[in-house]
Amino acid sequence: MKVMVLPSAADAEHHVAALFAKQLRRKPDSVLGLATGGTPVGVYRALAAAHRAGAADFARARTFNLDEYAGLPETHPQSYAAYMKAHLFDLVNLSPARTHLPDGEAANAEDACRFYDALYRYYGPADLQLLGIGLNGHIGFNEPGFAPAPGGTHVVRLDESTRRANARFFGEGEQVPEYALTMSAGRILQARSIVLLATGAAKATIVVRALEGPIGTDCPASLLQLHPDATFVLDIEAAGKLEPETAAGPPLERG
Ligand code: F6R
Repeated sequence: MKVMVLPSAADAEHHVAALFAKQLRRKPDSVLGLATGGTPVGVYRALAAAHRAGAADFARARTFNLDEYAGLPETHPQSYAAYMKAHLFDLVNLSPARTHLPDGEAANAEDACRFYDALYRYYGPADLQLLGIGLNGHIGFNEPGFAPAPGGTHVVRLDESTRRANARFFGEGEQVPEYALTMSAGRILQARSIVLLATGAAKATIVVRALEGPIGTDCPASLLQLHPDATFVLDIEAAGKLEPETAAGPPLERG
């Protein structure tokens, strides 16, 4: 596992955006795996700027998001479909037909999962997958102790801690959905290259668990230790509790 520590969250976001822009230049028809939440907002802002500057062309790219809330229409401002439009899709030259998220408002969520997984198996795996990390170590919405999902994308019940953490995005009196559709950890690990971005002191403890702890489903992000090309990109605060030798990473990977 590679670890890269950068001085600030903005530096870390720009570094990750640059990795995506480089991926698009190297392979214009890349399949990009995307995440939502607070952490990647700055990455998408930087990618949209790179696009305006002519340094990131999405015309032939295809995107797959990790997850979507069950029961939220895509027009709901907190749906991940709306998030992606606001933060990236409407700001770059990505045709809607080439952007994919699980269908959170499908009448039959299991069918929607099967369809999404079939699409991913057809077009994927992702050449480059962006991940955040939940305070409890989740990746996508694979919560600690998750059961294997042989079918790939599946419906999950969100941990109460995840619902509390995400309540900050919802209006007062609005409930965070109880269920979500998520790509499985197994599918996520199929990506050719993975970059997990974590910023801020609140993530420091779980980053230690994921990078220095044993590999286990009690911390889904620890499974990334099994991946041949996974990089944690951290700001100083998120890296603040790591052992110095972990934070240093291999010499060539230092920020
Ligand atoms: C979002 C996702 C989640 C988030 C995680 C961290 O698509 O898959 O795993 O990456 O909950 O969220 P933030 O960035 O809001 O701390």
